[in-house]
Amino acid sequence: MCGIIGYTGSQNAVPLIIEGLKKLEYRGYDSAGIAIFGKGSINVQKCKGRITALEQLISKTIVHYPLSIVNCSLGHTRWATHGEPSDVNSHPHVSGNNKIAIVHNGIIENYKELKEDLQAKGANFVSETDSEVIAQLAEYYHDGDILTTVTKLTSRLKGSYALGIMLCDRPDLLVAVKKDNPLIIGVSEHGNFIASDIPAVLKHTNKIYYLEDHEIALLYKDRVEFYGVDGAPIAKTLETVTWSVGDAEKGGEAHFMLKEIKEQPKILRDTINSLLSEGENKKTLDNFEITRYNKIVIVGCGSAYNAGVVAKYVFERLCRFPCIEVELASEFRYKDAVIDEKSLVILISQSGETADTIAAMREAKAKHADTFAIVNVIGSTLAKEAAYRIYTAAGPEIAVATTKAFSAQLIVLYMMAVRFSGREDLLPEIEAIPEKVAEILKQAEAIRELAQHCTRHKCIFFIGRNIDYAIALEGSLKLKEISYIHSEAYAGGELKHGTISLIEDGTLVVAIANCKTLHGKIMSNVEQVQSRGAKVILVGNCAESDIPLPDCYELFSPSLSAIALQLFSYYVALEKGLDIDKPRNLAKSVTVE
Ligand code: G6P
Repeated sequence: MCGIIGYTGSQNAVPLIIEGLKKLEYRGYDSAGIAIFGKGSINVQKCKGRITALEQLISKTIVHYPLSIVNCSLGHTRWATHGEPSDVNSHPHVSGNNKIAIVHNGIIENYKELKEDLQAKGANFVSETDSEVIAQLAEYYHDGDILTTVTKLTSRLKGSYALGIMLCDRPDLLVAVKKDNPLIIGVSEHGNFIASDIPAVLKHTNKIYYLEDHEIALLYKDRVEFYGVDGAPIAKTLETVTWSVGDAEKGGEAHFMLKEIKEQPKILRDTINSLLSEGENKKTLDNFEITRYNKIVIVGCGSAYNAGVVAKYVFERLCRFPCIEVELASEFRYKDAVIDEKSLVILISQSGETADTIAAMREAKAKHADTFAIVNVIGSTLAKEAAYRIYTAAGPEIAVATTKAFSAQLIVLYMMAVRFSGREDLLPEIEAIPEKVAEILKQAEAIRELAQHCTRHKCIFFIGRNIDYAIALEGSLKLKEISYIHSEAYAGGELKHGTISLIEDGTLVVAIANCKTLHGKIMSNVEQVQSRGAKVILVGNCAESDIPLPDCYELFSPSLSAIALQLFSYYVALEKGLDIDKPRNLAKSVTVE
């Protein structure tokens, strides 16, 4: 999804913006751009492709400006929604008179109507984007008063936006405003930043203001002012984040994904501790009264949805709730769900900014259901708007394909199940998981060797039964996300109802076998596919395993299978030489529908 970074301060802004853009790459993008003040107008450099392409462009152009005057700038990484990825559709966009530049993350739903209106008034549009109307509209309303301009501008916009604005007549000032898309303000000793996310500014500051919808921030070199849409000043609290720069960097690994896989013993321990030792997470969990509800719906997208599928098995088996559903957020929001004030909707999300999940939460609230977010990013929309929240202590996750945040979600869900079922005797089983995960990480080289022989496959099947099927879904998703190999997950018992016709000589099947009670069943599925020529990689705690996993309480075994499957996907993609941290067409945080 698009990324925004802006800076005004005493340092040279261009390298800071480029550095910030690189930190935002993980959000997914197809083009990048930067705006600086030139001689009486705004100079924009932007192009399709990676940030390195932008750097090359800048080295040929912006370098001609005396760098000392470039101490205020806006940058953007674009992920196309309206108009193909191209130089002209990239951000920043400038107004017709070249005196206002904007960067935008979101979608302006009424842009066609606004565009026609402005064109009738003489505006000349150059791009196919929805975002360009913002720059043109800002010029139309700009009368010298910033607050009135922004208020009039935003009152015309329908849809979602996080906006950074630069105006030629105020060369040290940056304006920020948002609705339904994230924007933070970082306050450093040498200047102030706006950014879509914290890692973009973490090298310079951990002092953050979280901008709320419809608040307007005016960033000067030495101060930040906040106003409401009525123009009245607002007092906001400057918060300190505990993430370190190292948390958001590769830490010597080849990819963020591998670094994040290896961090799992620590972040799982942190997540468990956050639920057992005094603090907000523990308070929320301990005081939560589950008996108030007669229906639970677990909602998420991608891996977060898969964590929900695991949770359904765990909640049903441990808590014996009669009515638990798992829904894809994009489906749930439009299905007119049968929920009411006796329903609990659990929303799972790493970013807390996934548009479909946020919409699902708002739909649940509109129907008077209680909402409970399991979320990684503090201060995110989901975290703020849900009635209850538990934070996963995964730290910043940069690789597009989630690993550690998914694992932390599983831990939270197990802890909830244990609490709701009164099965505190199972706590030691959860507390033992980080150590077992560390054991599996020691097998990385062996998994790499197995994975190296799997790259030629056009399709790979993942099978499992019960809880092993639930985690097979995540293994399959991970593989297709980063290796571009088609893959499907099936419940072992379902093979005979169709899928088995796809099995032929040399087909690769990854079978997961941690369910002791169903061991015979999955092994007979393995035989069925082997007898039709399939090659099988067995992952699990049984003697026959190719990737052996430590013994574990059956319902919590997805936490162990997940690690093996993450490593497997990682090494397949590595062997194929792919862009593992930024797979094609995918975005870390999908903030538009
Ligand atoms: C994107 C990512 C997935 C992720 C999903 C949900 O599609 O590519 O890896 O699982 O969003 O993201 P969330 O931030 O809500 O967990």
